[in-house]
Amino acid sequence: MDDQVLILDFGSQVTQLIARRVREAGVYCEVMPFNTDPERIEAFHPKAIIFSGGPASLTGEDTPRAPQIAFDLAVPILGICYGQMALCHHLGGTVETSDHKEFGRALLDVKDGCALFDGVWEPESQHQVWMSHGDRVVSLPEGFRVVATSAGAPFATFADDDRKYYGVMYHPEVVHTPDGARLLENFVRKVARCTGTWTMAAFKDEAIAKIKAQVGSGHVICGLSGGVDSSVAAALIHEAIGDQLTCVFVDHGLLRQGEAEEVVTVFRDRFNMRLVHEDASDLFLGGLADKTDPEEKRKIIGGLFIDVFQEAATKAGDAEFLAQGTLYPDVIESVSFSGGPSVTIKSHHNVGGLPEKMNLKLVEPLRELFKDEVRDLGRELGLPESIVGRHPFPGPGLAIRIPGQPITREKLEILRKADAIYLDEIRKAGLYDAIWQAFAVLLPVRTVGVMGDARSYDYACALRAVTSTDGMTADSYPFDHTFLSQVATRIINEVKGINRVTYDATSKPPGTIEWE
Ligand code: XMP
Repeated sequence: MDDQVLILDFGSQVTQLIARRVREAGVYCEVMPFNTDPERIEAFHPKAIIFSGGPASLTGEDTPRAPQIAFDLAVPILGICYGQMALCHHLGGTVETSDHKEFGRALLDVKDGCALFDGVWEPESQHQVWMSHGDRVVSLPEGFRVVATSAGAPFATFADDDRKYYGVMYHPEVVHTPDGARLLENFVRKVARCTGTWTMAAFKDEAIAKIKAQVGSGHVICGLSGGVDSSVAAALIHEAIGDQLTCVFVDHGLLRQGEAEEVVTVFRDRFNMRLVHEDASDLFLGGLADKTDPEEKRKIIGGLFIDVFQEAATKAGDAEFLAQGTLYPDVIESVSFSGGPSVTIKSHHNVGGLPEKMNLKLVEPLRELFKDEVRDLGRELGLPESIVGRHPFPGPGLAIRIPGQPITREKLEILRKADAIYLDEIRKAGLYDAIWQAFAVLLPVRTVGVMGDARSYDYACALRAVTSTDGMTADSYPFDHTFLSQVATRIINEVKGINRVTYDATSKPPGTIEWE
């Protein structure tokens, strides 16, 4: 790839959004910590570099500085917020702590034209931007001119047109800077002259070539759960190496209604993949009998999953590789300021420790993608919408949605039916894609009701639906009451065993998404 942009991370909460915007402009980019080994930065061959924002102060002693390599490469540089000050400081300008701090919406006064503003903002106009700074630039390095100001930042945008260095004090990557995405597009397309031809189809072809090169004639095992990430990884690897891939689907008996059947139909029948379907529900339900503690349930499921997967993988033949659907947000090395950069790489919940145990090398073809890009790739590969658009579903499945009570086949059946009705109503109302995750929970309590003329004594179920962007924080979805009543009526009428339905209005924090 010769048309790519590097984002150097100085620790901002929104660095990933810069990457999103650049990719939306059709340009491939990656995020690396500001203090990445210069050789690695050079080897990436960036056509331009963006310095992100960050929480530190350049007036402090041991705070991040712009790396010399960025300047040695003689490519365009855009500094955002802290990145702007780091750029300025490196080239001999001055930054100081300001009395006039700006946080939130601010008005930008555009004084002059520049390549970043081309076709977006005219000189002598005012625009809304999002600011978040305590320090500010007070004198510019040689070669720079002021392009825009704000009440708290006399150098809110500056430019060195010859070297193609630009600094903006505001955050163009956030939606509160309404024209920000177009400024970033100008930087990567017009200033850096990237072609903007990065598409999912191009990514797919390149990923297939990489998989072939990595795997050669080797055999790959892939754990398939029916979730978006493992499904897309499997479909992509299958397109690359066909029968050298075996997918192992461990059916723990804790899936939603129709889910196991769909995995088999789509992957074995339609895609013609070598698929081992291990129906291990007796083993899992046996292991969970009488267990009520959530952590104990999770440990049992995790342990059995590895045993079953390992056995099935061994039966499937001598594999050298294990495929995983690890995504970009899981592998970005985040910057922390207490003691240098820290690496936070989430281990995969379901097959943790397995690669070492089975002596397998990893194939992770989605490592560069964000979740919605994975969905686009899935569509490109011909996966059905019911899989690519699916809500997240936890590895331990319905076991953590039958809290505080032993799990039985009967309770699973009741929960599956209620959950399916709820999701059916959500789809019919056109709300599925507006919701991050929706599901029913079977509560460990039976209550009295009247059905017809008879007294009932059945389970209560809770409905949960949340909006979220990453699952870390979430809000309860504000259904209207008529919708909730309709779902409650259908569940009580159609599901034998439930006579009461409640809606969970808790946000996260303080609640979690799952009940456990
Ligand atoms: P909580 O309940 O912690 O959930 O707010 C956050 C997100 O993570 C999902 N989740 C899991 N996913 N294995 C998974 O693959 C798990 O063990 C697991 N536990 C929770 C949950 O569904 C939500 O999307």
